[in-house]
Amino acid sequence: MHFYLEPGGSLTGSIRVPGDKSMSHRSIMLGSIAEGRTSVSGFLEGDDALATLSAFRAMGVRITDPEAGRLTIEGVGLRGLRAPEQVMDVGNSGTSIRLMVGLLSGQPFDSMITGDQSLLRRPMGRVITPLSQMGALIGSREGCPPLEVKGGRALEGIHYDLPVASAQVKSSVLLAGLYARGRTSVTEPAPTRDHTERMLNGFGYPVDTQGGVISLEAGGALTATDIDIPADISSAAFFLVGASIAPGSDLTLEHVGVNPTRDGVIRILRAMGADIEIMNQRLVGGEPVADLRVRHAPLHGIEIPVEEVPLAIDELPAVLIAAACAEGMTVLSGAEELRVKESDRIASMAEGLTQLGIENTTRPDGIEVVGGEMTGGVIATHLDHRIAMSFSMAALRARDRIKVRDCAHVATSFPGFSELAVRCGLQLEVADE
Ligand code: S3P
Repeated sequence: MHFYLEPGGSLTGSIRVPGDKSMSHRSIMLGSIAEGRTSVSGFLEGDDALATLSAFRAMGVRITDPEAGRLTIEGVGLRGLRAPEQVMDVGNSGTSIRLMVGLLSGQPFDSMITGDQSLLRRPMGRVITPLSQMGALIGSREGCPPLEVKGGRALEGIHYDLPVASAQVKSSVLLAGLYARGRTSVTEPAPTRDHTERMLNGFGYPVDTQGGVISLEAGGALTATDIDIPADISSAAFFLVGASIAPGSDLTLEHVGVNPTRDGVIRILRAMGADIEIMNQRLVGGEPVADLRVRHAPLHGIEIPVEEVPLAIDELPAVLIAAACAEGMTVLSGAEELRVKESDRIASMAEGLTQLGIENTTRPDGIEVVGGEMTGGVIATHLDHRIAMSFSMAALRARDRIKVRDCAHVATSFPGFSELAVRCGLQLEVADE
C-alpha cells in the first residue's frame, strides 16, 4: 500500500488524532495485573497496542473488544496471569516486547515472545542485562527476539543506572521490580517519558521519583481504575509540522497529551519560529492535556538542544521535514537512538531528503539538514510508520508529486491517518500500485 501525494495545499480545521500509544500499552499491562475492573477510554486501536491486548488475552485476561477507544479489563491481580499456550507475537512493537519481558520475568511460567522482521532486528540486550542482574533467565537470538523467558525465578530488587535514556528499559526494570524482593530503583542519564510511573501511581502503587532516582518497593497491589488516554503528541507532531510549513494553514489539534517528558517537539518547533499556541491546558487522569493551535510561520534552522532529544525522540523524523523547509541549517546530534527504531531513522530520513533534493549530511549520532526547495520523488519508508507520515507532510511544500512506498505500517500507530490528513487538506491518495 502506497501513498500518492499532490504538491501544495494547506491544513485547516480542528481534529483529534488517535490515542497515545505509550499510554495505551501501559493501560492494558497495568489493568491486567490490577485487582478489579479497569475502564479505558481513548485507547489507540492501532496494531501495536492491539498486539499487547492480544498477548494479555493469551495470558488469560478478559478484555473487551475496543469500541471507539473504549474497553474494559478484568484485572487478575499481580499473581493471576496464566501461561500462554503459544508464542506471543507482538508484531512491530518494541514497547510491547521490552515492557512485557520485564513483567514476564517475574511469572511462575515460561513464555516466549516474538515479532515481525523489523522487531527481530531490534536490540534487546538493553533489557536483558538489567533483568538478568535481577535474576531473570532470558534466552535470545544474539540479543534480538525471539525472547524466551524462564518462569519461576526468584527476582531480587536492584539499583540500575540506565546507560541509555530509554523509557522502555526503565519501565521493563520497574515492572520486574513489582515481582522482586525489596526495592528496585533506576536512574536515567536524561529524563524520559514517565507514563509508567504516573500510571502505577494512578493504580495506587506508589512509585518514588526523588532526586533523579525512580524506585518502587515490591509487595504492593494495583487497584483497578478508570483511564482516559489523551491524543498522542507523536501523531499530532506530523500535523504540527505540516501546518507550520504550509502557507495558509490554521489547524487545531484537540485533547493532546502534553506531558513535559513528551513535549520536546513543541519547544523545538517554536525555537525554529513555529506559531503553536497551547490552549485549555488541564490535567486528565494525572496527565497534562491541551489543545494545540498551529498556524503557518516561516521557519529557520537551529541546533536542536541535545537535552530535548529524549523528549522528542519519536517526533524527530517530522522535525527534519520542518528543517528541510526552514531557512538555513538544522543540526541534530545526540540522537544515535534513532538508529535502532523501527528503521534506522537517520539513514531513512537522509535517503528520503536526498530524494527530494534536500542537502544533508549524516553523523553517527544525527544529521545536518540545509533547508531548501523540495522536488517531488519516490520515498522508501523501510516499513517505518513515522518515516511514511513525515514524508507525506513534505508534499505540502514540494514542487512535484511524492510517492511514499509501503505505508501499511502507518496502522501500527495511526489508524485512519490518510483519511484524517485528507480531511484537513493534504492531497493524498492511497493505492496498492
Ligand atoms: C516508548 C519509549 C521510546 C519510544 C517508543 C515508545 C515507550 O522508546 O521511542 O516509541 O512507550 O516507553 P525508548 O524508550 O527505547 O527510547
